[in-house]
Amino acid sequence: MSARIDIINGPNLNLLGTREPGIYGAQTLADIESECRAHAGGLGYDLVFRQSNSEGEIVGFIQDAAPKSSGIIINAAAYTHTSIAIGDAIKAVGLPTIEVHLSNVHAREEFRHKSMIASAAIGIICGFGAQSYRLALDAMHAYLK
Ligand code: DQA
Repeated sequence: MSARIDIINGPNLNLLGTREPGIYGAQTLADIESECRAHAGGLGYDLVFRQSNSEGEIVGFIQDAAPKSSGIIINAAAYTHTSIAIGDAIKAVGLPTIEVHLSNVHAREEFRHKSMIASAAIGIICGFGAQSYRLALDAMHAYLK
């Protein structure tokens, strides 16, 4: 059986494709999922790809990843900037976690400069659009090797 990687997506990312395409691009979350699935498969991983608009459900996804998964890639969207619960869940499960964002949050409003997840992550990738996810899969693979 292949090792598993979990990609977890937060609120409003289900609207990608029509949501502020000038910031987030034209690809849908389904497009990103299929690209990630192909890329993860090429690296030899089984991919679990999930999205929720609810903070509690995202905490549940993180708890469910351990101990079955080798690592978590998370775009917690707006909860990145507010959720102590998601940061705590990542610390609690102890899996290597990479924070990703489509946009460069540091070039945007000040409230997006703060992350409640960053201190629990092995690294952060932001600003490369959908490619941020693929870069995170490569980074996770390099970390796990
Ligand atoms: C985002 C950036 C967040 O600030 C924002 O709330 C999102 C998406 C990104 O991928 O660029 O919903 O995480």
